[in-house]
Amino acid sequence: MRIATARLILREFAADDWTDVLAYQRDPRYLRFYSWTERTDAEARAFVRKFLDQQADRPRRSFQLAITQADSGRLIGNCGIRRKPENDWEADIGYELAPECWGRGYATEAARAMVDFGFRELELHRISSWCIADNVASARVLERLGLRQEGRLRENEYFKDRWWDTLLYGLLRSQWKPSAAIVELVIGAS
Ligand SMILES: CC(C)(COP(=O)(O)OP(=O)(O)OC[C@H]1O[C@@H](n2cnc3c(N)ncnc32)[C@H](O)[C@@H]1OP(=O)(O)O)[C@@H](O)C(=O)NCCC(=O)NCCS
Repeated sequence: MRIATARLILREFAADDWTDVLAYQRDPRYLRFYSWTERTDAEARAFVRKFLDQQADRPRRSFQLAITQADSGRLIGNCGIRRKPENDWEADIGYELAPECWGRGYATEAARAMVDFGFRELELHRISSWCIADNVASARVLERLGLRQEGRLRENEYFKDRWWDTLLYGLLRSQWKPSAAIVELVIGAS
C-alpha cells in the first residue's frame, strides 16, 4: 500500500529501513515518553520485521507505513492503523517522527491520512488512540485529527523512575470530518 499526501509518501517498510528507524529512535528526545532508555540494532531490526510480517497477513489487520518526505524520499518516521484483535469495527492509530522533523505538521498530515483510510477503506466505526499525558505534542496531534479525550488513566505506567498518566482518545465515524489529506492511494502496491 502507498499513500501520497501533500508533502509525504507513506509506503510499506522494507527490511533495510531499520537503520533509518534506529537513527531517530536512539535520539533522547524521541525516547522521552517511552520506557526504553536506548535502542539497539537488534531491536530496530525486530521493530521493522514486525511490520514486514503484518504486510503478509491475509486478511491484513495492521497497516504500519514508513513516513517518507515526498521530495527527498528520506524516511522520517512511521504511522499506522491497526484493527483491534477482538473485532472488525475498531482500530487504533499511532505515529512517530524523527525529532529534527517535529513541529512542521508532518505527524498530523500522516495520521490524518490514516484516519481517512480507516473510515473510507476499512469501513471502521471507531478509531482510538492513547498517549502519555505529558506528551503534549502527541495529544495535540490527536485533537487536531478530531479525536476526543475519553478518559485519563491515572499513574497506570511506570518507567524512568516515575509514574505517568495516560490519556485515551476516540473518534466515531459519525463525528469524522473527511479531509483531503490523501492525494493518492494505491492499495496492493509496495
Ligand atoms: C508526537 C509527534 C509525532 C508529533 O509530531 P509533529 O510532527 O511535531 O506534530 P505536528 O507538527 O503535527 O504538531 C502537532 C501539534 O503538537 C504541537 N507540538 C509539537 N511539539 C510540541 C511540544 N514539544 N510541546 C507542545 N506542543 C507541541 C504543535 O504545535 C501542534 O499543535 P498546534 O496545531 O496547536 O500548533 C512527535 O513529537 C514524536 O514523534 N514524538 C516521539 C514519538 C511519540 O511520542 N509518538 C507518539 C506516541 S503516543
